[in-house]
Amino acid sequence: MATTILHPSIASQPIGIFDSGIGGLTVAADIAKQFPNESIIYFGDTAHLPYGEKSVTAIRDYARGITQFLIDQGCKMIVIACNSASASAYETLKKEFGEQLTILDVISPLVEQVAQHSFRKVGVIATKATVSTNIYNQQLQQLRPELEVTSLATGLLAPMIEEGFLNNAISQATINRYLSYPDFEDIEALLLACTHYPLIRKEIEQYLGDSVQVFDSIEAVTNKLKACFEQQPLLQNKTKEIPQYHFWVSDYTATFEAAAQLFYGKSIQLEQAYWEGEYLVAQLNTK
Ligand code: DGL
Repeated sequence: MATTILHPSIASQPIGIFDSGIGGLTVAADIAKQFPNESIIYFGDTAHLPYGEKSVTAIRDYARGITQFLIDQGCKMIVIACNSASASAYETLKKEFGEQLTILDVISPLVEQVAQHSFRKVGVIATKATVSTNIYNQQLQQLRPELEVTSLATGLLAPMIEEGFLNNAISQATINRYLSYPDFEDIEALLLACTHYPLIRKEIEQYLGDSVQVFDSIEAVTNKLKACFEQQPLLQNKTKEIPQYHFWVSDYTATFEAAAQLFYGKSIQLEQAYWEGEYLVAQLNTK
């Protein structure tokens, strides 16, 4: 009788991480820092960016194709380093691939972290795709029914960040316009519910001042990964082998290459995979 092998992964395999573009690099960089022996395969779906403007169905299909690609590349676990993909596809990916490997999202770790505080009202900023699912309101109120949650779709922020508009008059004007949303006036905390937003966290904090506590998912996800490694013997312990970092994109962009180099402080060789229907095919002659 055929048996299903649960979690056949081994510690020496890489961690797969994906996002629509550079946002997930904020998560990947922290994972690389906290787990220095781990190899990482990162995928930025730059051909489909921004995910925030796509439908749940489309994002789910992309996430499925990327997960299969990362499994084919030998990943032992996958971190969905994108809120839009976590909101749209986490449940589907767990159902379809969860028996092969562990899949982590970025939403539940952040929700669990924020729910430990005794805030009365929090604000959430995210892409249109994430806000349309209402997932933060639902998950936060499940843990803290009395918590008031107000979410705002801030669609311009991710493309602005991808374009490199940071710490300048344009980013400040855009942030100010969004955060002056009247319903944010009495929030005690703001959740940066898009993995691109840590790149503008300082500008957001400057606008909000000390009375509003700002959260992003980076630390929450790394902690979740630590907890995961305590349950499963998948942590790569000290090894003579130097960890390998691979960065794949579905469409080569100089912005991505520059950002990846900035995050990892070394020159990065981008590798390219093409979408062929619902599958990703690795290009042999990479950039
Ligand atoms: N970084 C992504 C997120 O967390 C998506 C940004 C985008 O492509 O719209 O939602």
